[in-house]
Amino acid sequence: MAFAYSEKVMDHFTNPRNVGEIENCSGCGTVGNAQCGDIMRVYLDIDDNRRIRDVKFKTFGCGAAIATSSMATELVKGKTIQEALEVTNKAVMEALDGLPPVKVHCSLLAEEAIHAALWDYAEREGIVIEGLEKPKTDIHEHETEPEYALA
Ligand code: FES
Repeated sequence: MAFAYSEKVMDHFTNPRNVGEIENCSGCGTVGNAQCGDIMRVYLDIDDNRRIRDVKFKTFGCGAAIATSSMATELVKGKTIQEALEVTNKAVMEALDGLPPVKVHCSLLAEEAIHAALWDYAEREGIVIEGLEKPKTDIHEHETEPEYALA
């Protein structure tokens, strides 16, 4: 089935920003999309002023997940933790000039993974981030790589 994607979605899909890993990240979150089973991991590098110095992502998600993650990472980079919390999947979709309705769920992966990474950071730092809820779908283990079923 073909979908009508905006030029911005196509740009971020074909040339995604911030793909990769951050060694010794400040916080890292891995989430699974309940609707399709795809997986996303986000790495954050947060400085002493609690500002996001760098962010990277990796995903097994679809093109819409890649494009929304690319845009979401662009939007949170350089932001404070509180500002990053305001970057919702709706804000990401608006920045991409929209997504086809059947692909909206894909945009949740980035938001949830960023929140999971912030939660991981808060736990490591022993702080509470106001307005941040414990991620429901975090499958991140500090020492263990998640197991991916490739069947
Ligand atoms: Fe799974 Fe898009 S269909 S992330």
